[in-house]
Amino acid sequence: MQLTSNDIRQKYIAYFVKRGHKQIPGSSLVPENDPSVLFTTAGMHPLVPYLLGQPHPEGKRLVNYQKVFRTDDIGEVGDNFHHTFLEMLGNWSLGDYFKKESIPWSYDFLIKELNLNPDRLYVTCFVGDSDAPKDEESARIWQSLGIPTERIYFLPKKDNWWGPAGQTGPCGPDSEMFFDVTGKPCSPDCRPGCGCGRFSEVWNNVFMEYNKTADGKYTKLSQPNVDTGMGVERILAVVNGFTDNYQTELWQPAIAKISALCANSYKDNQRAFRIIADHIRASTFIISDAIEPSNKERGYVLRRLIRRAIMQMRRLAIDPVEAGIVQISNIFVFIMSPVYPELVVNKQKISQVLKEEVLRFNKTLDHGLKEFNKLQKIDGKVAFDLFQTFGFPWELTAELAAEKGQPVNQEEFKNEFEKHQDLSRTASAGMFKGGLADHSEVVTKYHSATHLLHAALRNVLGKHVHQEGSNITNERLRFDFSHPTKLTQEEVKKVENMVNELIKKDLPRNVESMTYQEALDSGALAFFKGRYPEKVTVYSFGDFSREICGGPHVESAGKIGQLKIYKTEKIATGTQRIYVNIGK
Ligand code: ALA
Repeated sequence: MQLTSNDIRQKYIAYFVKRGHKQIPGSSLVPENDPSVLFTTAGMHPLVPYLLGQPHPEGKRLVNYQKVFRTDDIGEVGDNFHHTFLEMLGNWSLGDYFKKESIPWSYDFLIKELNLNPDRLYVTCFVGDSDAPKDEESARIWQSLGIPTERIYFLPKKDNWWGPAGQTGPCGPDSEMFFDVTGKPCSPDCRPGCGCGRFSEVWNNVFMEYNKTADGKYTKLSQPNVDTGMGVERILAVVNGFTDNYQTELWQPAIAKISALCANSYKDNQRAFRIIADHIRASTFIISDAIEPSNKERGYVLRRLIRRAIMQMRRLAIDPVEAGIVQISNIFVFIMSPVYPELVVNKQKISQVLKEEVLRFNKTLDHGLKEFNKLQKIDGKVAFDLFQTFGFPWELTAELAAEKGQPVNQEEFKNEFEKHQDLSRTASAGMFKGGLADHSEVVTKYHSATHLLHAALRNVLGKHVHQEGSNITNERLRFDFSHPTKLTQEEVKKVENMVNELIKKDLPRNVESMTYQEALDSGALAFFKGRYPEKVTVYSFGDFSREICGGPHVESAGKIGQLKIYKTEKIATGTQRIYVNIGK
């Protein structure tokens, strides 16, 4: 019997709910209040404070599906199993069950619930090193379930250790489950992890009992956790007997659409079709989570995705403006919106942003082509400059240069590219220096300052003030809120004084757990625009501020230090922005 993606999501949630897990809603692709990461790359991101020991309002066993985006895999897109955007099913134990429950449940779910052939299941375990011992226990559990030793592989950290996603944070050895989809080894060495297309890694159980510290050491966490992740696209393909993800209902309509838009066949242009589909799907979700193309950070990643898709469309002679990009995006809105209703809400916005970016890129290309035609000599360095300045992908330059009878050396281009990558890697390392989810002391202080500031603004300016957004770095807090006019000097002083007074009084912090409705009834503010779980955490500072929030927060207001509003501006009709820093 064929299963749909929805069957799988439902079966998964039901299976773990039956085993004491609470379903929690997925989060945005853009991490809330976490300046250290660009995108949510795993279901555990929003759970970092709880993996570190803070009690979760829904308890110790959680389950959900989560949209994730992985820039790291962009180069692999086009093969059978990799995507930039994907959906992850996850179940978590926050200091509750561990290997002897987690592994048998995974096995049971795959074999009994999804009817996978157990003879095609391979697993890997951590081989051990100076940081953590060999994971014999997991291997023994797999054996007890009937997996023979020849299908259990012990591999080193680079294969069998997950996290932290940034520089610091929760991580641990993992045990991964692979399904042999073709039954055909490419060589005698073909094993799980081989890129030949035989093995699809369907599920990863991470035994998250370590914390990687800023000096690179692994210390034991206060509690051993389990963090699992299973890609919906992969398990759906495997369950239905397909040898690649694109044969599933999640991709087929888009592949059919691309075929209808061009005279080229999927069979002969598999990689191009897949890149177009993958990148437009990812862009659709990213725009829906309020990111727009730009030249930095998240916006830059989005721009790259759209432009890479456009390049492939040009190769297939699909006009991205007239026919292509919006129609393909609409297919994903249609397929995915029953699960992610925000896509319908944002449909107009998505189309508009995509269209504008196509037009912008076309202009860039036209301009670039003019410059290109003026060039006397085209070498790898020039190809890289074209890439840098006009966004000319390598393939385009190579094609144009060949037309001119001047083949370009790709090695030279690659060298230039790598030099640049080293630089940008160094730049983006800064982005991660706070760790996976930045819950460093200073960011925590800013979280708390945000609450006090919010309450003070409502107090001074009126109850029409609503938080519209915030962004925290190690240096400052940027806070957007609804209010018609730019703040006067006097208002700024009043707000500052009010917050500093509370800090001086060292107002105590209180944390409670209750249902969402109870929280609202108790006067808690809720400004996060996503869905809330049934149970929420409410943080308050004395009687002054009360908000639904995931935390973490300082223990009392006195820990924040002196607050200063150093810049005010109006960013849109009815929206003000202020910049704040706190004394160290
Ligand atoms: N966090 C783990 C992963 O993404 C489960 O593979």
